[in-house]
Amino acid sequence: MARVTLDSVNKRFGAAVAVEDFTLDIPHGSFLAVLGPSGCGKSTVLRLIAGFERVSSGQVLIDGSIVSGPSVHVPAESRHVGIVFQSYALWPHMTVEGNVGYPLRVAKVRGEAYRGRVAAALEMVGLAGFDARRPSELSGGQRQRVALARCLVMEPSLVLLDEPLANLDVHLRASMEDEFRAFHAKTGATMIYVTHDQAEAMALAERIAVMDKGRLVQVADPHTLYSEPATTMVAGFIGKGALADAEVLAPAEDGRCRARLFGMDVLLRCRAGQPAGKARVCLRPEDVALAGEGVPATVRRATYKGGVTEIEVTPETSPDVTLLLIVSSAPKPGASVKVRVDGGWVIPGS
Ligand SMILES: Nc1ncnc2c1ncn2[C@@H]1O[C@H](COP(=O)(O)OP(=O)(O)O)[C@@H](O)[C@H]1O
Ligand SMILES: [Mg+2]
Repeated sequence: MARVTLDSVNKRFGAAVAVEDFTLDIPHGSFLAVLGPSGCGKSTVLRLIAGFERVSSGQVLIDGSIVSGPSVHVPAESRHVGIVFQSYALWPHMTVEGNVGYPLRVAKVRGEAYRGRVAAALEMVGLAGFDARRPSELSGGQRQRVALARCLVMEPSLVLLDEPLANLDVHLRASMEDEFRAFHAKTGATMIYVTHDQAEAMALAERIAVMDKGRLVQVADPHTLYSEPATTMVAGFIGKGALADAEVLAPAEDGRCRARLFGMDVLLRCRAGQPAGKARVCLRPEDVALAGEGVPATVRRATYKGGVTEIEVTPETSPDVTLLLIVSSAPKPGASVKVRVDGGWVIPGS
């Protein structure tokens, strides 16, 4: 197991800031996803931990030892970190056995120990018996498993994965997600998994670090990210829902505050200390429902989802807001309805 600490890490490429003031503690044996849109700095964070990049300032610690800092840079090969990339980076001229065993040969592991560890790694990813194949004779999913086995063969206590499933089709991704989870459960290794796909992050990780423009904006479990997003960016990036303007009428009490929303008085969820005044509100499908009394609104779209129907409605007072609701029997597009708001999250500092 390994603990990773990033302490006020900055990374600049020339004048461009890729990672800014990034501080995060990743405990032993945890499974963290780093999530954010393309270009927000996820890969750079991973490369800084791996030792492929040097920090501009701040420091990176592994198990309490500084591996990157103003005057320290432990080279990547001395960090004992397993890495899996999106592009599998297999050697096409080598067999599966040759690829998986490569790091062992570099480490001068030979004979019975070599054969045993290669076999165990292939077994772990469900590729026992594929030793003699070449990468060209494997499917995309199998190639990614070989890459995973090559990482596992060194029994790393820290595994870094950079969008490892981005090139795979949807059903293969789901089975590989299961494999990553099983691997984590089996080995207890610390895993840091970079992805731009929120569904993948939610499915895999206990904790998700959301990045935006080089900065860490929120670290939380998937449920908290969904129900209590820290910023409008997180609200928009995780899950479905709508953002609307509200006026908080009274400061928070017991995690709730009274507010004016769509011309109605409503009770919203909010963080402790939320002051009165203007605020943005995140409304998930669970926070809104059709009702006899409520906000007058018009149905714009209805999409059957098997068993339930997802409808989009716009409140009369806020035609620029599109609310999503899940209903069992859907009114027709164009119908006038009433919408009740029970819940909704006041985005802090918005
Ligand atoms: N070696 C590099 N040289 C110059 N700019 C880079 C380099 N690596 C990354 N960047 C820039 O840093 C930013 C973050 O990149 P990256 O970490 O790859 O983002 P992500 O993985 O989230 O898509 C981007 O603007 C990217 O262009
Ligand atoms: Mg990347």
